[in-house]
Amino acid sequence: MSKRVLLTGGTGYIGSHTAVELFAAGHDVVIADDLSNSSVTVLDRISEISGRRPDFVKLDLRDLNGLKQVFRRFDIDAAIHFAARKSVGESVEQPLLYYDVNVNSLLNLLVAMAEFKVDTLVFSSSCTVYGQPDVLPVSESTPFQPASSPYGNTKQICEHILRDYSLTGVGLKAISLRYFNPVGAHESALIGELPLGVPNNLVPFITQTAAGLRERLQVFGDDYDTADGTAIRDYIHVVDLARAHVSALQRSLHHPNAANYEYFNVGTGSGTSVMEVIKAFEAAAGVPLPYKIVGRRAGDIEQIYADTSTANAELDWRAEKTLADMLSSAWQWQQHIAAQDGPVG
Ligand code: NAD
Ligand code: WQD
Repeated sequence: MSKRVLLTGGTGYIGSHTAVELFAAGHDVVIADDLSNSSVTVLDRISEISGRRPDFVKLDLRDLNGLKQVFRRFDIDAAIHFAARKSVGESVEQPLLYYDVNVNSLLNLLVAMAEFKVDTLVFSSSCTVYGQPDVLPVSESTPFQPASSPYGNTKQICEHILRDYSLTGVGLKAISLRYFNPVGAHESALIGELPLGVPNNLVPFITQTAAGLRERLQVFGDDYDTADGTAIRDYIHVVDLARAHVSALQRSLHHPNAANYEYFNVGTGSGTSVMEVIKAFEAAAGVPLPYKIVGRRAGDIEQIYADTSTANAELDWRAEKTLADMLSSAWQWQQHIAAQDGPVG
């Protein structure tokens, strides 16, 4: 049955892809975003792909009254909460900003949802909650490690808020999706990741380097205890990740016996090293990638990848796209940005 879904942070990278998948599944989409890390033109791009335009309100989620207006104006059935600051390094420099935006946005959303009797929520969590796990692959029952950044701590705090709140019997059905490393772009190359300034993350740095915007990729460490010495992550195509939100929503709406609060790993289940990503990119894009091995990046863990069996079984979802799909779509998107919008940062 068609639902009207509020996407906070919905003009962002993962939110925009999720809007497309929600439309494809027959739902309506309302986006609330302050555009602090995204562009309003994303709405045109979503419309071009989907043939439908999301309703949009420019709003800082810290504004509770403004948020209540959104619930008053639209007949919201469910919310997916993407809105957050997401840079690990920036969170170390500006911890109060991160606690303010990331924690207060969730609190405001829960207050507004309670007032307007909306009881279905999907929350953007992160594999960062696990730190460097002792056993791999990491399952949902693996305990959290102390957070290594204020950003990571906000994700742990938000999950704890959802756990505690769901125990009060308010009737909220909440699901945290613990994303591993989302990469890639929609096959249309109309939406993708738009990092401001110099990218922190591996794949945008690779595509900008291949496009000639950066001189070379720095590979942070080749002395890890892995087959080729470089660090291992579980990269997941953003479209597969977006589909997981549609599945999580279906579960919350139609699975009365599910616990009030649940959390799932959303990855592929495979670990890939930095060197393997570089080689796969060169093969997928057909261009060489200049790189240099440098020292380890402070705060990086050696390796993490997901046990996705619970998400596969309970959400009836699995990642389908390959590493080559991820990297070729990221490259198409990079070329689209270069053609349409000029270089970023
Ligand atoms: P993004 O920055 O592209 O999207 C976040 C959106 O939220 C942006 O459009 C931004 O303008 C908006 N926003 C920020 N603060 C806001 C506020 N106060 N009020 C309203 N809107 C606000 O990031 P993304 O990669 O799409 O991430 C979405 C969510 O997924 C975030 O919660 C992030 O922490 C989480 N996550 C991301 C990754 C990743 O690697 N991209 C990994 C794990 C978890
Ligand atoms: C991947 C690998 C780097 C850049 C971060 C956040 C995490 C989550 C996802 C939100 C690592 C190496 C990178 C470069 C490199 N986000 N690398 N050269 O660090 O796994 O996770 O994004 O929740 O919280 O910490 O992702 O893409 O930055 O790095 O060698 O220029 O690539 O060392 O091994 P990471 P990443």
